[in-house]
Amino acid sequence: MNTTFLEACRGKKTSHVPVWFMRQAGRYLPDYQRVRSRRTFLELCKNPELATEVTLQPIDIFGFDAAILFSDILIPMEAMGLPLEFHDGRGPIFPEPVRDQKAAEALRVPDTEADMPFVLETIRLLRRELKVPLIGFAGAPFTLATYVIEGGSSKNFVATKGMMFHEPELYRSILDKITACTSSYLIAQAKAGAQALQLFDSWAGALAPCDYERFALPYVQTILADLRQHTDIPLIYFANNGATLLPYTSTLDADVLGIDWRIPLADAIRRAGPHAVQGNLDPLALFLPKEDLEARIAAMLADASEARGYIFNLGHGVVPETDPDQVKIAVDAVHRFSSQGN
Ligand code: CP3
Repeated sequence: MNTTFLEACRGKKTSHVPVWFMRQAGRYLPDYQRVRSRRTFLELCKNPELATEVTLQPIDIFGFDAAILFSDILIPMEAMGLPLEFHDGRGPIFPEPVRDQKAAEALRVPDTEADMPFVLETIRLLRRELKVPLIGFAGAPFTLATYVIEGGSSKNFVATKGMMFHEPELYRSILDKITACTSSYLIAQAKAGAQALQLFDSWAGALAPCDYERFALPYVQTILADLRQHTDIPLIYFANNGATLLPYTSTLDADVLGIDWRIPLADAIRRAGPHAVQGNLDPLALFLPKEDLEARIAAMLADASEARGYIFNLGHGVVPETDPDQVKIAVDAVHRFSSQGN
């Protein structure tokens, strides 16, 4: 068993720097395309055997030091009672967005065993196969709320921020339910065998820091506190575009902070408080010529040498146009450069 990832989460020195990539399973991989070509994305998420297969693909191909469950942050929103559609090229759609009190009251807090058994079954199957740790995950409440309030992806979050500013009680009632759903969903993942948990706050960076403090942070704090009562596995919080939020996120009771590429890694480490750090290569840096990519990775490893714990990752997900050979070059470089001298 390769436990370097779990050790780094806990701030321990490791034989090499562990590496995994957000969205390491997905459309840039021909093997994923092959499995996906015959069914929809949601069918894939809900089929434990196939979800297991695509989770394992990047581990087998590239030798990542951790696996992440193949699923989507929006699966529990569907289980809350909201019809969910994915259309190729358009991303997720909620045809019945949550905009008023009636819709908020209709949201149910699902029971993971009963309503999302396929997620737990996938975790159990994966644990039998894997020789690296398995990361479970969920969306953070603010990020999830943007999808269900806007009805899909958004640029300016007009409906979400409008609700925050004009109907804060309505906003809070929706976020409270999403928070309860997320806590119990993650606890169920841990019980089924997930060995670390990551909260994805993909849109946190769209908030002014004062609004993040009032309308996003408290729900993350609640989930982390709930999780600490039920499990002692490492907890990771990733706020995309979150450099300006570090004064808040560095106070969170997480083990690891995920960092995007818009801040130098050394600055993020300095400002991350007691946390281990995970990140932060620009996903588009995978398009650099080999020598430049390797030089950038070497520089990051040098910057991270004093971190309390360091996990190499991208600053956000792998983009579909990425050349898999470049991923291999990056993973090998992290392993090779960070083992030198050990
Ligand atoms: O390998 C992994 O990282 C595990 C699987 C995973 C997916 N989505 C698979 C996926 C994870 C961890 C996610 C999280 C997720 N989903 C986030 C948070 C991380 C982030 O990227 O910010 C968000 C915001 C979503 C919502 C979502 N899912 C969007 C906006 C889209 C459409 C955009 C896109 O890339 O297609 C998805 C679809 C999605 N989720 C795909 C995959 C592999 C593509 C589906 C396909 O095959 O067409």
